[in-house]
Parts: sequence; structure tokens; C-alpha cells
Amino acid sequence: MINDSLVPNMIIPRFTGNLYPKGKQYPYPKAGQVNPIVKLFVVNLYGPTHTLELMPPESFKSKEYYITMVKWVSNTKTVVNWLNRPQNVSILTTCEITTGACSKKHEAVSEVWLSKQDEEPVFSKDGSKFFMTVPVKQGGRGEFHHIAMFTLQPKSELSSVRHLTSGNWEVTQILGYDEVHQKIYFLSTEDSPRARQLYSVHTAGSFHRKCLSCNFQRENCSYFSAHFSPNNEHFILHCEGPNIPMVSVHSTSNPNSSYVLENNTVLHECIKGKRIHKPEYRTVRIYDYELTLQLSYPEGFDENNLYPVLLIVDGAPGSQLVTDKFWIDWDSVLVSSDNVILARFDGRGSGFQGLKILQDIHRRLGTVEVKDQVIAVQSLLKLPFIDPNRIAVYGKGYGGYVTAMILSSTDRIFKCGVAVAPITDWKLYASAFTERYLGLPSRDINIYQESSVLQNSNEIKDVNFLIIHGTADANVHFQHTAELIQHLVKAERNYTMQIYPDEGHFITDEKSKRHMYSAILNFFRECLKQEMPVLQKEPEEDE
Ligand SMILES: *[C@@H]1O[C@H](CO)[C@@H](O)[C@H](O)[C@H]1NC(C)=O
Ligand SMILES: *[C@@H]1O[C@H](CO)[C@@H](O)[C@H](O)[C@H]1NC(C)=O
Ligand SMILES: *[C@@H]1O[C@H](CO)[C@@H](O)[C@H](O)[C@H]1NC(C)=O
Ligand SMILES: *[C@@H]1O[C@H](CO)[C@@H](O)[C@H](O)[C@H]1NC(C)=O
Ligand SMILES: *[C@@H]1O[C@H](CO)[C@@H](O)[C@H](O)[C@H]1NC(C)=O
Ligand SMILES: *[C@@H]1O[C@H](CO)[C@@H](O)[C@H](O)[C@H]1NC(C)=O
Repeated sequence: MINDSLVPNMIIPRFTGNLYPKGKQYPYPKAGQVNPIVKLFVVNLYGPTHTLELMPPESFKSKEYYITMVKWVSNTKTVVNWLNRPQNVSILTTCEITTGACSKKHEAVSEVWLSKQDEEPVFSKDGSKFFMTVPVKQGGRGEFHHIAMFTLQPKSELSSVRHLTSGNWEVTQILGYDEVHQKIYFLSTEDSPRARQLYSVHTAGSFHRKCLSCNFQRENCSYFSAHFSPNNEHFILHCEGPNIPMVSVHSTSNPNSSYVLENNTVLHECIKGKRIHKPEYRTVRIYDYELTLQLSYPEGFDENNLYPVLLIVDGAPGSQLVTDKFWIDWDSVLVSSDNVILARFDGRGSGFQGLKILQDIHRRLGTVEVKDQVIAVQSLLKLPFIDPNRIAVYGKGYGGYVTAMILSSTDRIFKCGVAVAPITDWKLYASAFTERYLGLPSRDINIYQESSVLQNSNEIKDVNFLIIHGTADANVHFQHTAELIQHLVKAERNYTMQIYPDEGHFITDEKSKRHMYSAILNFFRECLKQEMPVLQKEPEEDE
């Protein structure tokens, strides 16, 4: 049950369709504001109606907390994850639903914040064992998520832990526990941070590990997701790239043979004969890290020509843009039709390359993740075929925030940028997301000020800046853009703006969507087109 009666209300105006516009109010906790109070109940559907509250752990009782995960373990047992408001202590309990008694099975503590908060542990049938990923230190490279096997001790809060995997790579998802063959199936980045291969590991002996999908290279697949049948005898495998995605069913005992469920024939036909770019990769060194820059070159790329670059940014903590996933989007048009080179880079703060890289962003949003994007572009400027006068940047949401921060940095590398639904001031954004990285505004107001776009907005100059925002965005409120524009106007800065009335964070109306993409494309075409060389008039000869 969520009680949000004390949570301050946000208002979403609705402008169109009525003589008198209506607004919609809804409870929305911004950073540092009152959060909803959450309680967990079990209701008996058979026999006498009976509602029982599952109680939080003793140490959380008088404190604010989140419930980040609830899952049935058996007909009489659930597993629940409780997280404190600062998001640095979490307690995993199993609860007997007949009595409501919960007992602690695992406690996680972090000096920064706890990631993977909603991960569901995978239990054995009798409930005596469970598996989940935990951060494990790998020497100087810091912590990486690996599979831990917890064996519950009867009548005790303690459980014994064994680590099944280790290495400088991450287990991204545990898919199933095959008790007959004593195996865990999981996805990991062992092959490359860009890839997700399917592996199995023995839960006994020397924890022998085997890749099941690595043999499927002939399909040009390296980014997989998978679903196992309840008895683990079969699995559905989604190849998500770099080739055109396909879906197949495999038998666990002989994964090489498969039955194709979907091979995307229509998509194959559609892109036949079209210029589809294949990404290439370069390494950029940032402090101790070797990080990957993904470049998409236009067809007929020639090193003797000069090309403009569009940097696509996200930068949200734990996000990843450089992957082997298949993708075609509006930006593909710029590569295939406008000779633009696309660049994507995951710097500090990004996910799936260990917790050290991810957590480097703690309490300093808008610093290292912005700087690393600039460093990546600077590394490109050394290449002879990059035109230093035609560099652009695009981002949405968190990426819109990073875009605005990049344009307000004093490097002046960028000619233009588009920020869609940008977060501009963290004080205005959701409590759970913001406090995880920045703490409470009442305690750390300086951090909030330094991480705000508004403080630096007078530095957004000598650049073409397009801001796009739907006015009914319930995730990043239009308020962010309104504040930014007020600051830009005060500082006498130029900008271009495109609003979509009554559209949300994702523009859904087909006409609006088309309009937005052509607005973005036209903006970048204009900005990135080759300047015609101005012919110098030859000085007339003196007779
Ligand atoms: C919700 O919280 C408010 C304020 O604490 C309280 O007055 C109210 O009784 C609660 N509502 C329910 C249904 O528990
Ligand atoms: C969790 O964060 C809060 C607020 O920053 C801090 O006071 C507390 O000491 C932290 N707890 C741990 C275990 O690090
Ligand atoms: C895989 O990639 C290679 C090299 O790019 C290509 O020749 C081959 O046709 C691709 N295979 C499939 C099944 O698409
Ligand atoms: C699957 O194919 C690979 C190479 O094509 C081979 O090495 C492997 O032994 C095969 N596995 C099975 C279970 O047949
Ligand atoms: C996809 O599947 C259909 C039907 O099974 C088949 O006819 C077609 O050749 C397949 N296409 C590709 C590209 O594999
Ligand atoms: C804004 O645009 C106008 C007209 O193009 C120009 O005269 C002015 O210098 C620009 N201001 C800034 C701060 O760039």
C-alpha cells in the first residue's frame, strides 16, 4: 500500500482541446521532499479474508525506506528487498506469509549507493539456496558483479556464501537454476563489455563455466538475451545484434541445434540494398581506463575528405550506449544520407564495466561524465578526416542534461547541439533517482548548485542550441526547460525551441514524432553542412 497523502503535488497542464485548459495534479516527490510511505501486505484469497502486513526489518522500522523487490519463493514464502532512503543499506528478507514474520537473509552496504536494487534472487525448489549477483573485488580494477550462492542455515539469520564466478567482467543477469544438472544459466560481458553471451556455471566442484552462445558467431550475434523454460530443458534465445535480430528455441542439452521462431524477413527485405553503416571501435584512454568509442562511418568513407561528427550522448549512471545491439534510428539517416560520422562513448558513470567506473560519478553529476564525452571528441579531432569546425551533440533526458552541460563548458568544440527533455536542475527531479547520487539538497546544497545547468547557462554562447520538450512530460517536467530558458533570456543568450503541446517524455503522436525527427534532422543538416569556401577576390593589378 502506498500512502502519498503528504507528498507534494506536481501539476501537468493540458493546453489543447478546451476553452479553459485543465491541469492534472499528482503526488511527485522531488529531491529531499516527503516520499510516499509504503507498506507490504498479503491477502488471503480463499477462506476468510485475512490481510497481514509483512514487517520491515527492525533497523528500518522508524526510518524511511523503499521496497525494491518482492517475489514469491513458494506458496507460503516471499522474498522482499528493503532499502533505506539514502540507498546505501539494503536488507533482503524472506517472509512467512502465514505469520507475517520476516527474517533477514542478506544485508548489503555501500559507501556510495547500492546498484541493481531490484534484482530478483533465484531460489532452489526447497528454498534452501538462492543465487544473486553481488559486487566482488577484482584487484585494482575494483568491484564487478558476480554470482553468489547463498545457502540458508536453518533457524539462523546467517547464510553461507560461495562465489561462483569472478573476473574483470560483469554478470548482467541470472536466468535460471537447473537443479538436476547443478547449473546456473546467466548472461555476462566476459566476451566484451559490448556483448552479452549466454553461459552456464556448475554450482558444485570447481564451478566450471561454459559459453553456450559463443559458437553462434556464424549468425554474427554477440548480444543475446534469453528465457529458460520452468524445467530448464529449453530456452528461447534472442539475438539482438549486431546482425538483424532473430529469435530461436534451443534445447539445453544440445544448444547448437535450434528452431527459428522469427528471423525478421521483412526487415531483411526492407534494408536490402540500403546503405547500412557498420560501427567501428577505437579505444580512448581516460585515467586508468581504456574505454570504447563507437564510430559509424558513411558509405564510401574516404580518409582524404573532411567529415562532420555528431556525438550521441546519454551518460545516465549505469547506462550503456556502446553495445553490439542492432539499431536503426533517426541518426542513421545522417550517416547514410548526409555523410555525418556518428560517435558514441561510455565514459565514467556508465555501466557494465565494473563499479569503479560507474561509481566515479557519485556526488558529482555533471562533471566526469561530461568531461569524458569532451575527451572522446578531442581524441577524434586528432584524426585528419574530422572537420573540427563541424562537431555537434545530441541527447535526451539525462543525455539532454549532458548536452547542455557540454555546450556550457568552456572548451567551445561544438558548433551546435540538441537537448530533448533536458534535466536542468536536480532539485526539480525525482527523489529516488537524484538522492541516490547527490544526497539530500538540505544537506548538500553546494553539490546541487554545481551540478545544475542553470548555474552555467550564461556560458551557452557562440553555439546553435535547439531545445525540444513536450509540455506534458511527467518524467522530466517542462519546468526544467522553463527554468533554463528564463536563465538564457536573462543572460541574453540565443537558443531555438520546439515544444510539443500535451506530449509526454516519449512523443507518441505519429505526426508530432515525424515533426520532431525532421526538426532535429533539419537542424543538424543546416549546422553540419559543408561551408562553401568563400572565394577571395583577387586584388586588381595596378597598371
Ligand atoms: C496516510 O498518511 C496520513 C498522514 O500520515 C494519515 O493521516 C492517513 O491516515 C494515512 N492513510 C492511510 C489509509 O493509512
Ligand atoms: C548512508 O548515507 C547516509 C547519508 O549520506 C550517511 O549518513 C550514512 O553514514 C551512510 N551509511 C553507510 C553505511 O555508509
Ligand atoms: C556475418 O558477417 C560476415 C562478415 O561481415 C558476412 O560475410 C556474413 O554474411 C554474415 N553472416 C550472416 C549470417 O549474416
Ligand atoms: C557446438 O558447435 C561447436 C562449434 O561449432 C562445437 O565446438 C561444440 O562441440 C558443439 N557443441 C555440441 C554440444 O554439439
Ligand atoms: C526466414 O524464415 C523464412 C521462413 O522460415 C525463410 O523462408 C527465410 O528464408 C528466412 N530468411 C532468412 C534471411 O533467413
Ligand atoms: C543572437 O542572435 C542575434 C541575431 O542573429 C545576434 O545579433 C546576437 O549577437 C546573438 N547573441 C548572442 C549572445 O550570440
